[in-house]
Amino acid sequence: MNTTIRQLETDDDRNSFDCGVESLNAWLKQMAGQNDRKRFTRTYVMVEADDPKKVIGYYSLMAISAETEGLPSKKRLPEKVSAVLLARLALDKNYTGQGLGESLLMHALYTTSQASNLIGVHCVIVDALNEDVANKFYMPYGFAPFQNEPLRLVFFLETLKDM
Ligand SMILES: CC(C)(COP(=O)(O)OP(=O)(O)OC[C@H]1O[C@@H](n2cnc3c(N)ncnc32)[C@H](O)[C@@H]1OP(=O)(O)O)[C@@H](O)C(=O)NCCC(=O)NCCS
Repeated sequence: MNTTIRQLETDDDRNSFDCGVESLNAWLKQMAGQNDRKRFTRTYVMVEADDPKKVIGYYSLMAISAETEGLPSKKRLPEKVSAVLLARLALDKNYTGQGLGESLLMHALYTTSQASNLIGVHCVIVDALNEDVANKFYMPYGFAPFQNEPLRLVFFLETLKDM
C-alpha cells in the first residue's frame, strides 16, 4: 500500500477514522487540531497516495520532563531528563496487520531523533494501552518497561546509533 506520513492539516478528513478505541478516535477528531495550534502536541497523519486527505493513522508527540526513577537505565541520570511523550498512536482498524502501525512508530522515532539533533531529548516514553500492546507492539522495537510501571515504556534515543 502506498502511504505517506506528514503533519496534520486543518482540512484533513478525520470523520471516518475508527481505530476501535473511542478515546483515540475522539482525540484525533476533537483535540488534535487545537493542541497543534497551541503547540501542546504535534500530530502526524498517515494517508494513502490515492486519497491524500483521508486520515488512516496518526501519532502525536509532546515534549516532557520525565522522572528517571524506575527508568531501566544502567547510566547515572539526574532526577529528570528531557523526553518526548508518544502521547497517541493509532491506525484505522480497516488497515491493521500490514505493518502500517510499525511504519507510524518508526516515523515517530525518526521525527524525535531529528528533533534531538537540535535540542536535547534523552528518550521517548509511551504509556501503552494494555499489556498485549506493550509486549507485542512496542517491546520488539526496543522499548523497555519502567520498573514497577509495566505499561510505561521507554526507548533510549542513543540506541538509534546502532540501528
Ligand atoms: C496497535 C496498532 C497501531 C498496530 O497497528 P498494525 O498496523 O496492526 O501493526 P503492525 O502490522 O505494524 O504490527 C507490528 C507488530 O505488532 C503486533 N501488534 C499489532 N497490533 C497489536 C495489538 N493490538 N496487540 C498486540 N500486538 C499487536 C503485530 O502482531 C506485529 O508483530 P509481528 O510482526 O510479530 O506479527 C493498531 O492495532 C491500533 O491502532 N490499535 C488501537 C489503538 C492502540 O492500541 N494504539 C496503541 C496505543 S499505546
